[in-house]
Amino acid sequence: MIMNKYIYTALLSFILLSACKNATTSTTVVATATDTVEKDMHTLSNADSITLKHLDMDIKVDFDQKKISGKATWTIDNNNKLNNLKLDTYDLTVDSVFVNGKKVNAILDSPIKYMGSALNIPVEVGSTEVTIFYKTGKNATALQWLDPQQTHAKKYPFLYTQSESVYARSWLPCADGPGIRYTYTARVSVPKGALALMSAENPKQVNDSGIYHFKMDLPIPAYLMALAVGHIDFKAIDNRTGVYAEPGMIDKARYEFDGVGKMVNAAEKLYGPYRWGRYDMLVLPPGFPIGGMENPRLTFCTPTIIAGDRSLVSLIAHELAHSWSGNLVTNATWNDFWLNEGFTDYFERRIMESIEGKDYADMLWELGYQDLVTNVNELGKDNKDTWLKINLDGRDADDGFSDIPYEKGSHFLKLIEINVGREKFDAFLKKYFDEHAFKTINTENFLSYLNANLIKGDSTLAKKLDISAWVYGPGIPANCPRAGNVRFAKVDAQNGKFLKGTPPAQLDTTGWSSNEWQQFLRKMPDSITREQMKQLDGTFHFTQIGNSEIADLWFVMAIRAGYEPAYTAMEQFLGSVGRRKFIEPLYAAMMKTPNGKEMAKRLYAKYRMNYHPLAQASLDKEIK
Ligand code: BES
Ligand code: ZN
Repeated sequence: MIMNKYIYTALLSFILLSACKNATTSTTVVATATDTVEKDMHTLSNADSITLKHLDMDIKVDFDQKKISGKATWTIDNNNKLNNLKLDTYDLTVDSVFVNGKKVNAILDSPIKYMGSALNIPVEVGSTEVTIFYKTGKNATALQWLDPQQTHAKKYPFLYTQSESVYARSWLPCADGPGIRYTYTARVSVPKGALALMSAENPKQVNDSGIYHFKMDLPIPAYLMALAVGHIDFKAIDNRTGVYAEPGMIDKARYEFDGVGKMVNAAEKLYGPYRWGRYDMLVLPPGFPIGGMENPRLTFCTPTIIAGDRSLVSLIAHELAHSWSGNLVTNATWNDFWLNEGFTDYFERRIMESIEGKDYADMLWELGYQDLVTNVNELGKDNKDTWLKINLDGRDADDGFSDIPYEKGSHFLKLIEINVGREKFDAFLKKYFDEHAFKTINTENFLSYLNANLIKGDSTLAKKLDISAWVYGPGIPANCPRAGNVRFAKVDAQNGKFLKGTPPAQLDTTGWSSNEWQQFLRKMPDSITREQMKQLDGTFHFTQIGNSEIADLWFVMAIRAGYEPAYTAMEQFLGSVGRRKFIEPLYAAMMKTPNGKEMAKRLYAKYRMNYHPLAQASLDKEIK
């Protein structure tokens, strides 16, 4: 049957929208064929009706009391003539509120689970400026206050924020939804000798006053608000990229990230200009709970990617890619999180391919595919959280965090690329970023855009892609692409040899990158013996390895096999590193045996204070 383009579009929209209604039964979905508006259930603000244009902050960072205090002034446009502005807060104390200079009686609602407390501010038709005097609380989820002991130099305290997904509200009163954007300026007062940095135009060195001024004149959502304060140095990479770190880390960091300038160029070549001015990185102390965070102009990252041989910099490619997917074109709600992370994983691998070649990128794709399989098995094949579009109504916004948005998302894009050809797909993506720059998009609008600009009524193509199986269906669709892998084939051969008794020293591991080593360890069976572990360690010295990805895999194997010679190094790792991706599997592996359980409890009691509040919260539930 030859389908008329319009009938086809209507049909596709119908299929997509019925699937979408299914996906979000309890969500308000107002849909037309081309436009779908879905309420963000993770903000209590009404910034969809009152426009927040600009934020000006004047805050003081107090390390003694572990508190941020000051004022936040919002420039608003009350175009719908409402009489109440609602903002998100979490554990904030609101001291006073002024509207156009006049003190008003604002009311803080009681807290709602996962959401915090709405701050209700009476406004009038002509209200343009709302100032809130406030301070942060003890349970500020975005803030990690480090004692000197928890830093590299162990001399000065350190503070950093992590606002994604819904934690900005714990350090400033705001409209905390990814669909709401605004520009900001800030004046931040910190102890003398400390440097303050934000997701904005940044200073390069400490000044005498302890007062720093910031400006972000491109509109961003609240989850990209970021602040770090500590004893920090800067080194340039080229004229638009550079790195910040504690003085004792700065040279290592500068060395590791030497290629980042080239990454920015590679990214621009793929999908258009980098629009944020500078691209700098800040290496945080080891307690940082995640690998990296794409704060605009200043990626925050874990020191665990500083391996000494530049082998883990694909993480920077990922955070850089967010400067397009995420920061420029932003997921409308956390239900659409795959639009941020799936696109970014795809883009990351394209950057790595252009720098390191196809064989290299294929390894990243394969490791990602394996993560996807593992994660689907963990979640269960029929779990609706394995759909790309998920439903987080009434749930923690972070419940959507898994390998699904990343790996199922990126593989979906890879599938489209394979089917339409790279040239067409790249042109499509570039146009997508251009046309949606500084805007928000949800899954349904993306699918209409995909249909209008790429599928264009080609029913054979649509059938091949089977979009609804990916977006509104569970597990790994049958047409999921998986590339052959030249380099991993060699690794698997060596792995097989070892398991059949070849001594490790006789294995051919020449030229292996960190990826090959990961594959080598991942493919070791759970039944590996202590004796085999000892042999491997004797030749490859995994227990002492400086590469955190390999070390983490090795330590998990050591726990399983009861290989005690690795325990001291593992304990050291758990005592300094706070990256959840590493520490959670280690504790989980320990919790599986009676002896391990004792060890987990002992180590966790000792090191809990080094971990981020959110890591503590999830580990508290697991370790008991
Ligand atoms: N934006 C994420 C980090 C994030 C996601 C924070 C959800 C809070 C909630 C960041 O870009 C990311 O994906 N980081 C990964 C690294 C990456 C190479 C997959 C990480 O931290 O492991
Ligand atoms: Zn990401």
